[in-house]
Amino acid sequence: MTIETVTTAPIEGQKPGTSGLRKKTPVFMQPGYLENYVQAVIEGVGGVSGKTIVVGGDGRYFNDRAIATILRMLSANGARKAIVGQSGLLSTPAASNLIRTRHTDGGIILSASHNPGGEHGDFGLKFNTPNGGPAAENVTDAIFARSTEITQYKILSDEAPALDVIGTSTLGEMEVEIVDPVTDYVTMMEGLVDFDRLRALFKSGFRMRFDAMHAVTGPYAKAILEDRLGAEPGTVVNGTPLPDFAGHHPDPNPVYAKELFDLMASADAPDMGAASDGDGDRNIVLGKGLPVSPSDSLAVLAANLHFAKGYTTGLKGIARSMPTSRAADRVAEKLGVGMYETPTGWKFFGNLLDAGRVTICGEESAGTGSSHVREKDGLWAVLVWMDIVAARGESVAEILRDHWQRFGRDYYTRHDYEGIASSAGDELMADLRARIETLPGQSFAGLTVTSADDFAYADPTDGSVSRKQGIRVNFDNGSRAVFRLSGTGTEGATLRVYLERFEADLTKQDMDPQEALADIIAAAGELASIQQRTGRNAPDVIT
Ligand code: G6P
Ligand code: ZN
Repeated sequence: MTIETVTTAPIEGQKPGTSGLRKKTPVFMQPGYLENYVQAVIEGVGGVSGKTIVVGGDGRYFNDRAIATILRMLSANGARKAIVGQSGLLSTPAASNLIRTRHTDGGIILSASHNPGGEHGDFGLKFNTPNGGPAAENVTDAIFARSTEITQYKILSDEAPALDVIGTSTLGEMEVEIVDPVTDYVTMMEGLVDFDRLRALFKSGFRMRFDAMHAVTGPYAKAILEDRLGAEPGTVVNGTPLPDFAGHHPDPNPVYAKELFDLMASADAPDMGAASDGDGDRNIVLGKGLPVSPSDSLAVLAANLHFAKGYTTGLKGIARSMPTSRAADRVAEKLGVGMYETPTGWKFFGNLLDAGRVTICGEESAGTGSSHVREKDGLWAVLVWMDIVAARGESVAEILRDHWQRFGRDYYTRHDYEGIASSAGDELMADLRARIETLPGQSFAGLTVTSADDFAYADPTDGSVSRKQGIRVNFDNGSRAVFRLSGTGTEGATLRVYLERFEADLTKQDMDPQEALADIIAAAGELASIQQRTGRNAPDVIT
């Protein structure tokens, strides 16, 4: 056993974004790139000497080799133990669960989430702290700072153990425990939703399709839906994780999960459709002929959470990211519980969950989760929806329409302009920022701005402040447009424009969101000169 100390120099651009460091896979595979960043993580979190770290990823290209390097570096840096998912697999929520239940000192999760995989796709690495959640900004700042000062990294000369055999071995002085990635997760779900009730639901003829998009949730969904709950074989499609996700974007939106959306709109639609993303933290739920928008999903889950087995005592509070629609706010008000509006990024929910202020959190980007872990959890959301369907004896579409009737409907859409020049994105945002104060009173495509601001968040638990989190513009018809740049892309910039309007009139709740929001879409386009600045006539993705 030899610990090598390798001389290195800082590599530019190792700055973690919304969810850790994301880069093109060939960038991550450059000699020393991963090593530099892992050493920066190790030092940025205060070293790993004597610590236990969970390691796993979504199985994308380079996952296995990256894990082998990470294990050798953890050992060389004095870690006591690494807990690794078999074959290097761990969904993000399953990793969060292991970090928490095994009382570890954190985890390294390898994923670029919903971004494509394969040799020329994307790769990512993020560190989760002992609470199971993504590292907060003070930690990611420290990691970035280390990456700019690094002069050497430590790595063990020995080979890492094979990852496919469950059991314990040693690597240098570090213990390596390879665990089944699914077992603990299934146990946790069993405590949160009523498996007996769900078995009875499938027995009564309930049919569903779960599209795992060739990504990490396949084994989890099969184990729970087909093996434990008795869903017919074939309920889970695209259920084998592939390093390149079969060439697709593993993102459960109408563009990349088109087959599922088409099926649910057709005459052959099963009772429920669902899908998850690359690393298993996102979800989409669809009823027959009616997809549930992620913002609505948060509101419906919050309003009905007490039907699910693990939440019968109700909820403490709700949190949503700022660009998520205000549908959940109406539920919080009705329930008389706290409502928190945070910047985009799951890491902002961690403190609220740890402080016991909220039970459920959600984002427009197809993320919902609860206090059971510190990440969003795709399969959890799907199972809770099913538990509510079973408990209420109503379909997904009935539950959603009933929700709109009781609370009103928040029409919602997000328009993405992907891969535009970074300079164009930056200039568009800078121009909006410069004009914020002058916007109120001005009209665009027939709508007048009533207020505008640049969202800043002060964390109520530790007082930390995050500024410049997106431009919010409110119009005189009660509608809202939000502009921000994505923090999860790997190339160029992605402009996200979030659009919403509240509709209380029961007779006007069945419109296509694009039609219902046509005037605000036009106003947002004119206000930010989107066409001129991006050179695009239409968004690349509409959710
Ligand atoms: C990831 C994060 C989410 C975030 C989403 C979109 O899934 O975990 O918290 O909402 O990316 O982020 P973006 O910065 O691309 O809008
Ligand atoms: Zn994800």
